[in-house]
Amino acid sequence: MPQRIVAGNWKMHGSRAFSAGYLKSLEGGALAGLGCDVLLFPPAILLPLLSTPASDLGIELGVQTVHPEPQGAFTGELAAEMAADAGAVWTLLGHSERRQLFGESDEDVALRALAARRAGLKPMLCVGESLAERQRGDADAVVTGQLDAVLELLGDDLASGGIAYEPVWAIGSGETASPEMAQAMHSMIRGVLRRRSERLAEMPILYGGSVKPENAAALFSENDIDGALVGGASLDPAAFLAIIMAMETHGNP
Ligand code: PGA
Repeated sequence: MPQRIVAGNWKMHGSRAFSAGYLKSLEGGALAGLGCDVLLFPPAILLPLLSTPASDLGIELGVQTVHPEPQGAFTGELAAEMAADAGAVWTLLGHSERRQLFGESDEDVALRALAARRAGLKPMLCVGESLAERQRGDADAVVTGQLDAVLELLGDDLASGGIAYEPVWAIGSGETASPEMAQAMHSMIRGVLRRRSERLAEMPILYGGSVKPENAAALFSENDIDGALVGGASLDPAAFLAIIMAMETHGNP
């Protein structure tokens, strides 16, 4: 049975005051004894502040990307080793905003995945097709290509992390893939992983793209949807908690 995960991607949002208030509102035992893992991907600069209180609550932290190199003349970049040193356990890889706005190719994402392995960070590999690719009937081929690029370099080592299927047209748009459509893609992804190894086939596959308390239960009821990568709704701790509770009620066997 794949591990169940609910993860929050804060993107470029947050501050010291926001972080303190956020964790305070999750105190009080709401996260104790959960059947799923809870992850947060805040801006990296907030990691040192969040590290101890998050770990007290049982939340694992991650960064939103890492540079392929361990150090060097790369102004503005963050090495995987630095992220781990600051308290990150995970890193997102290949989020669609990194691919679209910052030009990360499948090959770049694979090199970043190698850096994550080198630093001992768990990879959360984001994959997903654009609207044009879906309309052309290329969704399966695009997502398979994104997976294969990383699997070629990392092989079974990817199994220490997770996959987040995030159709680009559903991110931040209010449009969610229907549970059936998401399930079909998750099952396709599971097949790609299974062709490589049984260990990879056991990886958690999260859905992302406008996940909210209102749609989480239906998504989590699908067989191959093992969790969610939540953007906008994760900025509201009450909404994020409601999504976690939907996983507790509908997602766990
Ligand atoms: P969203 O973002 O929930 O705001 O659509 C998801 C993501 O980009 O990870």
